[in-house]
Amino acid sequence: MKKNEVIRLCDVDFVYDDAQILDKVNVSISEGELIGIFGPNGGGKTTFLKLLMGFVKPYLGSIEILGKPPKEARKDIGYVPQGTHIDKQFPISVLEVVLGGALSLLSPFGFYPKKVKEQAEEVLVKVGLIDYRNRPFGTLSGGQAQRVLIARSIISKPKILLLDEPTASIDPEAEQEIYNLIMQLKKSMTILMVTHDLQAVINMVERLLCIKRSVSSCAPEEVCGHFAMGLYHTPIKRG
Ligand SMILES: Nc1ncnc2c1ncn2[C@@H]1O[C@H](COP(=O)(O)OP(=O)(O)O)[C@@H](O)[C@H]1O
Ligand SMILES: [Mg+2]
Repeated sequence: MKKNEVIRLCDVDFVYDDAQILDKVNVSISEGELIGIFGPNGGGKTTFLKLLMGFVKPYLGSIEILGKPPKEARKDIGYVPQGTHIDKQFPISVLEVVLGGALSLLSPFGFYPKKVKEQAEEVLVKVGLIDYRNRPFGTLSGGQAQRVLIARSIISKPKILLLDEPTASIDPEAEQEIYNLIMQLKKSMTILMVTHDLQAVINMVERLLCIKRSVSSCAPEEVCGHFAMGLYHTPIKRG
């Protein structure tokens, strides 16, 4: 891997059953980048993140994360899946949800060491919800719940954070709080965020990846107005 490179995909093809989902994907991501990922529904965005986590494997090609195969690098990656659902009726406190991100640190007797509880409180401070630690998770608003899930994903201090549509179905004010949080987290980790709201993230991100069977990378200033409106097309030649 190149110096500062944290993620590299070389000629990656991905196939579900007989359908080719990703075709010859080449991507290189450097330490500290904040990347926005967009593209049409079914374009392969979630699949791309699952490949990085090692939940699914390339059909062809190779993936390196922090110089290792994805599965081995998993402990260095925080992941907030798309539309994460925790049963609203399930009696679990905010602190317990966050601790769920540190299951591997559970003692053989089913207790979390004091240090892990402190880490959970630390990340709750980071996401601005420490005062909610003993609340039932089910009583939080959508935006607050999403911030708790982000806290859970960073309790083990990952180097890379993957967020799959973190602001989907959240009201605009709460959305801004999540973007502010992401800008804070950006100081200490590389972040890839899937979003449909290009308008909201265009001034935050260093780079955009459009995933639509193939993956193309562009600088925010290169994004054409059509993309921001949700109309995806291949580059248009002029003249
Ligand atoms: N487990 C699966 N088995 C078969 N096909 C799948 C599976 N998961 C996703 N797909 C298909 O793969 C394509 C890409 O899906 P996905 O990565 O979820 O797209 P996006 O996140 O961009 O909307 C879609 O056509 C979807 O139907
Ligand atoms: Mg998706």
